[in-house]
Amino acid sequence: VKIQPPPGMRDFYPEDMRLQNWLFDAWRSASLAFGFSEYEGPIFEFLELYELKSGAGIASELFAFEDRGGRRFALRPEMTPTLARMVAARAHALPRPIKWFSTPRMCRAEKPQRGRLREFFQWNVDILGLDDPLADAEVIAVAADFFRRCGLGPAEVVIGVSSRVIASKLLAGLGVAESDAPRAFELIDRSDRLPPEVFAQQWDAAFGKQVSAGAMLELLKGADLERCLALCREAGPSGAQAADVFEQLWQWLDTLGARPWCAFDPRVVRGLAYYTGVVFEAHARSAALRALLGGGRYDDLTGLLDGPRLPGVGFGMGDAPMIELLREVDRLPHTSETIEVFVIDADPKLFDHALQIAARLRQAGFTVDFSYKRQALGKQLKQAIARGARLAVIVGDELATRNELTVKHLATGEQRAVASADLHALRALLAN
Ligand code: HAM
Repeated sequence: VKIQPPPGMRDFYPEDMRLQNWLFDAWRSASLAFGFSEYEGPIFEFLELYELKSGAGIASELFAFEDRGGRRFALRPEMTPTLARMVAARAHALPRPIKWFSTPRMCRAEKPQRGRLREFFQWNVDILGLDDPLADAEVIAVAADFFRRCGLGPAEVVIGVSSRVIASKLLAGLGVAESDAPRAFELIDRSDRLPPEVFAQQWDAAFGKQVSAGAMLELLKGADLERCLALCREAGPSGAQAADVFEQLWQWLDTLGARPWCAFDPRVVRGLAYYTGVVFEAHARSAALRALLGGGRYDDLTGLLDGPRLPGVGFGMGDAPMIELLREVDRLPHTSETIEVFVIDADPKLFDHALQIAARLRQAGFTVDFSYKRQALGKQLKQAIARGARLAVIVGDELATRNELTVKHLATGEQRAVASADLHALRALLAN
């Protein structure tokens, strides 16, 4: 029988794994460069954790199951609830601010499509315990730094930034009550994924009396920052405070060098129910892909999980949309297989010596391979090149006579004799 992987799930053959490792390295280096610490959590959680505040979108995409004791669990569709649970449990002991990142595997029962799978990895970067737009600016700057590391500039990627408070004031100006804003956000978040007539129908059913879908989208699309901030300030103290916070964020982004990546975009409202303030999403300018990353501020989540109320802000980025974009703009790195040293026996009777040398080099920290088949020197050299080896160490009769090995630099073809104990010489050859 032939059995395929389940729909929306992937096999990672070694060449896929090399690319995946490259992406994880870039995620990790960007996080570490900004002083974030790595954490992990369980692959499934009590279902209730997601029912609490993730919102209808995620709840409908859960892979949920019961254990034999009848307890209900779900494979994790996102990391934020786990993060909030972990932080809430130790809130009093953890030094603040909490700056954590993770690269967990996620499952969502989505309809598989380009850049959206049922199983994916999601880089999460979050700061908790800092009630200052500097935290929002820092996480956005990490994302911009990651794009830079991938060779993607503001010409290719834009981070749309807004605030749910500003958006709710704009909507209030159109007649949508602030208490209805969460429902409106959920709908607006889906506006670019639904056929326009379906979106209009759903919007009009809920808010058609106040404002038509078309007029609302038109207003959000054309809204410029100055005007929105002015409108917000006119709407009372909470609006004025949100406007101040947003202005401060804009300044921090500038100072941190991330501003060129960002554009104010009040159409970004995010679908998850827990966001309370600044929200953002990155999109490729060229490719018709869904968001590359999404995040925002969530100030109530730890409080819901039996912890003290700790402000938080962060984002998640999927591996699949990132790889799709890099492929499309031809920026995928060349991640061919490489090893440092391939050990070759010039004669089968020297194979034992070759193995001992391979073992010694491995112990000394070199990456080393050799042929499992006894064959002519030329064939072993070919295999060394095919394996992407940098050096071939050839074990010949000189080992017995002069205690020497022949080392061939495979890119330049240069060949020389090296004392068998001289690991420095090998390191020097690898360095160029
Ligand atoms: P989200 O918008 O659901 O937010 O997902 C964030 C990102 O994860 C998306 O922009 C996309 O890159 C990736 N992603 C989501 N679903 C899939 C999928 N099915 N296949 C591949 N990639 C996917 C959250 O998950 C929030 N918990 C993010 C966050 C962290 N907010 C604050 N901190």
